[in-house]
Amino acid sequence: MPSVTPPADGPAAAAYQIDTTVAHPARRYNYWLSGKDNFAADRESADAIAKVFPHVRIAAIENRRFLHRAVAYLARHAGIRQFLDIGVGLPLEPNTHEIAQDIAPDCRVVYVDNDPLVMAHARALLTSHPEGATAYVEADLRDPAAILDDPGVHHTLDLSQPVGLLLVAVLHFLADDEATHAVSELLAALAPGSYVVLSHGTTDYASDDTAARIPSLQKKNEIRFRPRSREQVAGFVAGLHAVDPDPAAPGTVAHLVPIDRAGSQLVSVAQWRPDPGEPNLPRDEDVACYGVVAGVPDGATPGDGVMPAASPAAPAEPEL
Ligand SMILES: C[S@@+](CC[C@H](N)C(=O)[O-])C[C@H]1O[C@@H](n2cnc3c(N)ncnc32)[C@H](O)[C@@H]1O
Repeated sequence: MPSVTPPADGPAAAAYQIDTTVAHPARRYNYWLSGKDNFAADRESADAIAKVFPHVRIAAIENRRFLHRAVAYLARHAGIRQFLDIGVGLPLEPNTHEIAQDIAPDCRVVYVDNDPLVMAHARALLTSHPEGATAYVEADLRDPAAILDDPGVHHTLDLSQPVGLLLVAVLHFLADDEATHAVSELLAALAPGSYVVLSHGTTDYASDDTAARIPSLQKKNEIRFRPRSREQVAGFVAGLHAVDPDPAAPGTVAHLVPIDRAGSQLVSVAQWRPDPGEPNLPRDEDVACYGVVAGVPDGATPGDGVMPAASPAAPAEPEL
């Protein structure tokens, strides 16, 4: 049954009042994707970012398309029937449950976000197919135990069975230690046969000049964005097994490849199993976002995936 669990306490509860004067990632992303659920502060902040990263809209669109393809892949080829989508963002059709339930109507999806505006729109995330189920939990990825213990999660998902965990364009809003902690805890809770869908912004392709402008952009525009290198992103999922991103590769688990710390299995989100005949995929430097779909093999040591080093572009102090 659909359910919405409001926050009882913790960071999500503290942020329960919607402050429209402060830019927020969910609403900025919604603006780049041409959504209507954003305010002047979000648009100003988004435009300031676009001045430094002129292709940010392309990145947002390609990231969203990656999410669509990855969810469809897991439902169609990997038999995944349960999804935990953390950092879901404002509803934008097709949402995760719509894609998954289109393939398998009995799919069960729990959405999580820490933006109270997403909570206000959660109804749109709860239009489940009657054979499946959806739930929305307002919670913070920095407190993974609270997510895993939430009744909305337990009523909807059976964590003893495989789950598709979505961490799409969200880890780059967490500090290094927060992100490492969140991924380790969540991975430890996943049954073998589960998958992680992860995308993450990077400045690996940025000029020195652009990279140097990030700290002041963060400060002036209230951005918690922490781009990470290929190796750092790979560190989150090292030891898991990547789905081959080549669309010509067979889509079965037999073709999973162990993920190394160099991250050679990571590709631009636009290059992850693009739809056949997709014309003119954008350049990796314009997308600047890595994507990977990683399976949790039997006997994996969850928590292997710790990120090795601090982000080069992260400010010394947690900002804002
Ligand atoms: C860029 S949007 C990505 C939306 C969606 N995952 C996608 O890729 O299309 C990032 C989302 O992560 C959420 N978010 C950021 N920090 C978070 C945190 N600490 N806990 C939960 N959600 C968070 C934001 O509110 C926003 O909705």
